[in-house]
Amino acid sequence: MGINQEGSTGTTHFGFEEVATHDKAGRVGDVFHSVATRYDVMNDLMSLGAHRLWKRFAVAQSGVHSGDWVLDVAGGTGDLAWLLAARAGVGGRVVLSDINDSMLAEGRRRLLDRGGAGNFSYLQTDAENLAFADDRFHCVTIGFGLRNVTNIDRALAAMYRVLRPGGRVVILEFSKPVLRSLSKLYDAYSFAVIPRIGRFVANDEASYRYLVESIRRHPDQRTLETKMQAVGFERTRYFNLSGGIVAVHVGFKL
Ligand SMILES: C[S@@+](CC[C@H](N)C(=O)[O-])C[C@H]1O[C@@H](n2cnc3c(N)ncnc32)[C@H](O)[C@@H]1O
Repeated sequence: MGINQEGSTGTTHFGFEEVATHDKAGRVGDVFHSVATRYDVMNDLMSLGAHRLWKRFAVAQSGVHSGDWVLDVAGGTGDLAWLLAARAGVGGRVVLSDINDSMLAEGRRRLLDRGGAGNFSYLQTDAENLAFADDRFHCVTIGFGLRNVTNIDRALAAMYRVLRPGGRVVILEFSKPVLRSLSKLYDAYSFAVIPRIGRFVANDEASYRYLVESIRRHPDQRTLETKMQAVGFERTRYFNLSGGIVAVHVGFKL
């Protein structure tokens, strides 16, 4: 018998599949090695460009000021890092981190292409085991990354640990649509259209099927907020975007 993803043994979900807990990170790794070079174009196609607005909204909630130190966890190709760096300025620092070297390499390449150099750092590290000292960052962000980690509670606790007292976490993630009618339409689009776009554009239907399925397995807005509170975050709140297809959760380490 398996236990759910909060446990360290047994089984957990990989999309709609049940897999051994110790296999999930490798399976997720295969997905992102496979999609890395097509990741950005696929994001634009799948979301019809909306992911850019969602990311802007998330960064607007970050409270990042000039001179701040910011960590973007599971930062992938660097969209959030780029927007955060504009706020942190030349006196600040943005660390782009990801467990996956293919995604991190794409992120580094894109940030350098855009002219970002001085105030970015890059580190390959697991969200559940962040390789940073305690109380380091003014802000920690994670965009569309949390649902991919094996143990969400552990990742939340790690993000809490590396935040300075007074610091803020911003979590951007797919969530649960608030209207039933929207939910039905969204399901039809996600399951019928997105894997096909994945097949034609990225030549990888299976990875995009996983991405859609993983959204359905992710905790809803309220459940995620409760998890944040359980690891210590205070003054938590969330904003539904696009009718709850996406949510931005914010919390503080006080
Ligand atoms: C859907 S992408 C999001 C990338 C970027 N944050 C964005 O918003 O476009 C998910 C990212 O999470 C990373 N990831 C998955 N599991 C992780 C883990 N345990 N620790 C850190 N990063 C992880 C993947 O490698 C991938 O780059």
